[in-house]
Amino acid sequence: MQAMQTDLISEELRNRFEGATRVLVLTGAGISAESGVPTFRGGGNTAVWKGMPFDVISSARMVERDLPAVWEWFDYRRSLLQTLQPNPAHYEIARWADLFPEFTLVTQNVDGLHRTAGSREVIELHGSVWRARCLSCRTSYEILPHEQRLANCAGCGSYLRPDVVLFGEMLPPGAFEAAAEAAAACELCFVIGTSALVYPAASLPEIAKAAGAYLCEVNPERTPLSAICDEVLTGKAGEVLPLIGKS
Ligand SMILES: NC(=O)c1ccc[n+]([C@@H]2O[C@H](COP(=O)([O-])OP(=O)(O)OC[C@H]3O[C@@H](n4cnc5c(N)ncnc54)[C@H](O)[C@@H]3O)[C@@H](O)[C@H]2O)c1
Ligand SMILES: [Zn+2]
Repeated sequence: MQAMQTDLISEELRNRFEGATRVLVLTGAGISAESGVPTFRGGGNTAVWKGMPFDVISSARMVERDLPAVWEWFDYRRSLLQTLQPNPAHYEIARWADLFPEFTLVTQNVDGLHRTAGSREVIELHGSVWRARCLSCRTSYEILPHEQRLANCAGCGSYLRPDVVLFGEMLPPGAFEAAAEAAAACELCFVIGTSALVYPAASLPEIAKAAGAYLCEVNPERTPLSAICDEVLTGKAGEVLPLIGKS
């Protein structure tokens, strides 16, 4: 059984993994599925808070209309997340950071599980539920589990909002640019647990591939990206990833 499992990883991928100097990993909701976080298309998008659908309560308009309700929703989401733990996929990626001279982790997730698993530098394209941001001066504040969050900015006194990209908003300045630069320079690119439908995040593997990187997808299902991948590892991230670095 063990032999069959490691056979999933081709000789080609093993060699590239061992020899790579610049590696980029893009993760999506699927990497947190085994930790108990519902994926967006796997039920997360049907969530309703006080009668409001997910894309209404999580929208830029609602921040303007009813900021306390938006906070109630995010406080609730954090209360669910703080009981969950990273899974072997998060831990394996945290370990990879020390294996390569240049390693870039880009996530679309807002759950903070990569950081909990020990990844120090994470480009969080869609922000994090564990941060609050000032509506005026944009200062960002960490929110610690089990602790009361600040209500106002310590610097200017303005209201804080969740530091998450909501429906109808742009990505945080510089985040995508930094990720795109790393994608254009990498030799090996992993796309893990994302349906690859949300742009511009989904363009990162395309940028990597166009620049000559070896592209590898880890997902139990096929995605629109599968066709351009050099290798598609069909399976759960928590089971597949620990096999890649195993010789
Ligand atoms: N954990 C989170 O922070 C979280 C959760 C839900 C949604 N979101 C947001 O919703 C958007 C949805 O896009 P998305 O592509 O990230 O998610 P998605 O829900 O559209 O797609 C999830 C993908 O993960 C795959 N998957 C399911 N279980 C898996 C597993 N065990 N291992 C590997 N892959 C698995 C699915 O087949 C699917 O392709 C993102 O922008 C994200 O910010 C975030
Ligand atoms: Zn401020």
